[in-house]
Amino acid sequence: MAVVETIEHDIVILGTGIAGLRAAVEIKRKYGDKIDIGLISKIQLMRSHSVSAEGGTAAVLYPEEGDSYALHAWDTIKGSDFLADQEAVWLFVKLMPEEIRLLEHWGLPWSRRPDGRIAQRPFGGHSHPRTIFAADKTGFFEMQTLYNKLLEYDGWERYDEWFGTNFVVEDGEFKGLYAINWKEGRLYYFKAKAAIIATGGGGRLYNFTTYAHTVTGDGVAMAFRAGVPVKDPEFFQFHPTGLIPSGILITEGARGEGGYLINNKGERFMLRSDCAPTKGELAPRDIVSRCEMKEILEGRGFKDEVTGLEYVLLDLTHLGEEKINERLPAVREIAIRYAGIDPVEEPIPVRPVAHYTMGGIHTDLYYRVLDEDGRWIRGLFAAGEVAASSIHGANRLGSNSTAECLTSGRITGILAAEYVLKGAETKTVPRDRHAKEEDFVWGLFKRESGIPSYEIKRQLRNTMGENFYVFRTEEGMRAALSKIVELRRKFRTEVYIEDKNRIYNTDLQSALETLNLLDFALMAVKAGLERKESRGAHYRIDYPKRDDENWLKHTLVLPNGEDDVRLVYIPVDISTWKPVERKY
Ligand code: FUM
Repeated sequence: MAVVETIEHDIVILGTGIAGLRAAVEIKRKYGDKIDIGLISKIQLMRSHSVSAEGGTAAVLYPEEGDSYALHAWDTIKGSDFLADQEAVWLFVKLMPEEIRLLEHWGLPWSRRPDGRIAQRPFGGHSHPRTIFAADKTGFFEMQTLYNKLLEYDGWERYDEWFGTNFVVEDGEFKGLYAINWKEGRLYYFKAKAAIIATGGGGRLYNFTTYAHTVTGDGVAMAFRAGVPVKDPEFFQFHPTGLIPSGILITEGARGEGGYLINNKGERFMLRSDCAPTKGELAPRDIVSRCEMKEILEGRGFKDEVTGLEYVLLDLTHLGEEKINERLPAVREIAIRYAGIDPVEEPIPVRPVAHYTMGGIHTDLYYRVLDEDGRWIRGLFAAGEVAASSIHGANRLGSNSTAECLTSGRITGILAAEYVLKGAETKTVPRDRHAKEEDFVWGLFKRESGIPSYEIKRQLRNTMGENFYVFRTEEGMRAALSKIVELRRKFRTEVYIEDKNRIYNTDLQSALETLNLLDFALMAVKAGLERKESRGAHYRIDYPKRDDENWLKHTLVLPNGEDDVRLVYIPVDISTWKPVERKY
């Protein structure tokens, strides 16, 4: 086996979406050459999934018009079905306005009001129009602006197309992480004083998903394998408007601009008393997705004859061509190109689609990664979707995600740099650790025949879509769990890499990603089975009510043998508002 070479940086950032780039910018603009950074991305940096964020970023911009931090915090907490940690939410809402202004100063072309000030649009669950946007390509412009800003500085190095495999956490501290350089087909060890994990969510657990193929829960699975707790993985968001048949996102901005959802009777069902008579299409996503599925399951939907997928319609025709072209150009382009439908003329077919993982690596409100006893794992931070700090609780509001990527990137950048500057040292890795990692990666080549990882992934996604979607039951989740355990065993005993070349081996990468998805699925379904209530996006037909007495608590998931987990529960911070009934 080749020697595992070591690369050293003060700070490594794994993942280069909005959160990772924002952290790098913060470190460089505050601490300049005092800190050197390694930026690791499994793909070309600017192809990170953040570029596909569409609708916008939430912040309080004009308090004189009736918005406030308290209102943003309250909307977020009520939207979370009271599982958000409230001090974390306060910190988030207070940091956000400056993030918008910084991006403005760094050149982001925000959409404007007629008077030239930054525009905002309504979004689901927000009681004030507070979503700032750049047409419907917000993520792309945020990435572009941050990368452009980073180019002003020296002292950072890009590792594009390097695939992180595991990190080393021992004695309560972070020591380093392993990554494969696909160009060379070699495994390296990154030795760093601190690390910021910013690898995003796990949306490729599903077939019908808004996520890029790259989003395979890598950071969460790495944490799990390192014995770092994962918080609330049972809460998976289904966005109400995934385009039929591909699942590509049709932004909530379309409803924010005035789009309607209609069933096969031409009825705006969201306005019915059993859905959200006050907020209608702009209720939070968990509620809109459930109402859509109710229409479909009760026979008021439509059916795509080719795929068999059932759907409802999103009608934008009344908005007119000029507004659609100005505010929703990507929606129009996507609908024409991928469904053959021009939304200026016809409604768009949509259904709930996997979109966001509310859970993630367990952190405190400053995104310091914690162990199960609440102690910081020194040197380790998580930012963006991979982290659960937890401001989204059981259901995230639209446009709070790109926002959290910005605030968590900024916070982790500062804290990681200060930790380094206070004298943190790099740590020695145990002697046999490199050999263990080589076996983890290249050991997969040993089998000469068996099942390709693609087949395991296909079966995993089928069971997740069937049994862990918008509505859940004990029976369905048990079926999913036994399938996941079966697939995990198959992976261990039968997975087969046909391509034995180490350079740019997509067969091997797929196997490693499949393992990550299997880890994520095990955690999510086990935690979901145990949580015997309905809260936010975790809706159980057999336990349809929220149960604050028994379940107002976060789940922490830890490994327990090969195919099991250990669940630990910790309290939710409800220091400002006590839970109330959630109506819209
Ligand atoms: O619909 C959207 O544009 C998605 C936004 C978000 O998830 O925050």
